[in-house]
Amino acid sequence: MGLKSKKPTIVSFQKMKQQGEKIVWITSYDYPTASFAEQAGVDMILVGDSLGMCIYGYDSTVPVTMEQCIWHSECVRRAAPNTFVVGDMPFMSYQRSVEDAVENAGRFHKEAGVDAIKLEGGERVVPQVRAILDAGMVVCGHIGLTPQSTGQFGGYKAQGRTAESGADMVRDALALAEAGCQLLLLEAVTPPVAGYITERLDIPVLSIGAGADCDGQLLIVSDLIGEFQAFTPKFVKKYANVAEVMTNAMAEYAAEVRSGAFPAPEHTYKMKDGEYERFLKLVEEDR
Ligand code: KIV
Repeated sequence: MGLKSKKPTIVSFQKMKQQGEKIVWITSYDYPTASFAEQAGVDMILVGDSLGMCIYGYDSTVPVTMEQCIWHSECVRRAAPNTFVVGDMPFMSYQRSVEDAVENAGRFHKEAGVDAIKLEGGERVVPQVRAILDAGMVVCGHIGLTPQSTGQFGGYKAQGRTAESGADMVRDALALAEAGCQLLLLEAVTPPVAGYITERLDIPVLSIGAGADCDGQLLIVSDLIGEFQAFTPKFVKKYANVAEVMTNAMAEYAAEVRSGAFPAPEHTYKMKDGEYERFLKLVEEDR
């Protein structure tokens, strides 16, 4: 476990890329999980709009609001003061206009104190990226499978399987890097294309389902701890089975309440010596 004393910055990640040191990134949405992430020594936390599916039970990220993202980012920021926290712009918080993008990115900074903003899309979001950067914030691009626009891909499909799709992605990656993005996330991209982009760009390129050749890896915490039940993408490795641990604990509790085994005397408070007799006397007198 690597307890950090100083929060990494964008410069730290740049150096890690140059030195071939992998960047460790996970999502978190709440105080306890983010504090465990910091204790575990992860480098970055994403307060992803995946919170819509992992925390709220929506069947996509589309319904997620700015308010929800800000609330959860605030919890994470409090829990992980020494970890680089990235806020995720939810659907329709930046697509409509550059003004919306700057205002909502600014809310993440002012209200939740995040270190960077992530938004989905390639060339088509370059004006928004430039405007957020001009306002002084750090931006992480996100291309490949972009969950807010899965309708256009016909579902959750891997990207970069053909030469044309790979070349389109390279154009998007270059456009984002030229616009000034300081981090780039590739989601569900074939490793040869992801490796090419990582090599070609000077900025750190992170992978979620894009293979081992990127500068670092991201996983959704609810997947990696085995909490999210609806489906498991191919790129996920489960490191624990929290769903089983929690369900078993609750089932045992239910059984003990029903049998009377819980609470035991050690789970209850004692009256001071002689007070029960005095108490009975008092209540009897009042009757
Ligand atoms: O919201 C999120 O967690 C994300 C990841 C799927 C990359 O954007």
